[in-house]
Amino acid sequence: MIKEANNSAINVRYSELSKTSCCLSCGEALGHSKPQPGEICLDLGSGRGNDVIRMAESAGKDGFAYGIDISDGMLEKARKNAEKLDVKNVSFIKYTLESLPLESGSIDLVISNCTLNHSSDKQSVWNEIFRVLKNDGRFVVSDIYSMDTVPEKYANDSETIVECWAGSVTKEVYMNTLSKAGFKTVTVIEESEPYDKGEIKVSSFTIEGIKPS
Ligand SMILES: C[S@@+](CC[C@H](N)C(=O)[O-])C[C@H]1O[C@@H](n2cnc3c(N)ncnc32)[C@H](O)[C@@H]1O
Repeated sequence: MIKEANNSAINVRYSELSKTSCCLSCGEALGHSKPQPGEICLDLGSGRGNDVIRMAESAGKDGFAYGIDISDGMLEKARKNAEKLDVKNVSFIKYTLESLPLESGSIDLVISNCTLNHSSDKQSVWNEIFRVLKNDGRFVVSDIYSMDTVPEKYANDSETIVECWAGSVTKEVYMNTLSKAGFKTVTVIEESEPYDKGEIKVSSFTIEGIKPS
């Protein structure tokens, strides 16, 4: 049985946002990931579930797509969307990204859009991505990194959190985290010019990598 987890600050803020904002993304992870028929796919921070539903459609009747999110509001929207579109090979699970409720070596493709910056324990998230992927399984992740260390004063500000940069780290720290998790080669597929947020500059990028066998 899957144990439910909680993270009340993010749950409350994103449940509120699920009622109004249509899109919170910072990249096009799904567009680059090309899910194949029969694949088992996973979206971390699945929000309203659009990417999970599209992955499930590409994976077809022999494939499956999971969405993990902590926000009750987002999960409710996602489940309703899947029901409305009659997409059955999906499951939306309330859980934290730092400890995934999935078997080791069970996933072909992990995607995530503008979510991993939220985690205060990014090493655990990337260790979990490495653990759940099959050998030769792949990830495509869109996220934000900061050009400098984010000042402490932004860390608990709900608006900067929702703008997805309060928890961002530098590219060097980001890439070291992936390397420590076990990903040997990571490719940057797209990357924005740095842009202003508060007193700092950030950049959005999409990266991909394969779990070595
Ligand atoms: C910016 S939204 C992105 C949603 C979706 N991926 C998209 O592109 O529209 C971030 C999502 O991640 C979820 N989230 C943030 N931190 C999380 C965590 N530690 N564990 C699980 N979900 C988390 C939030 O509830 C929210 O739905």
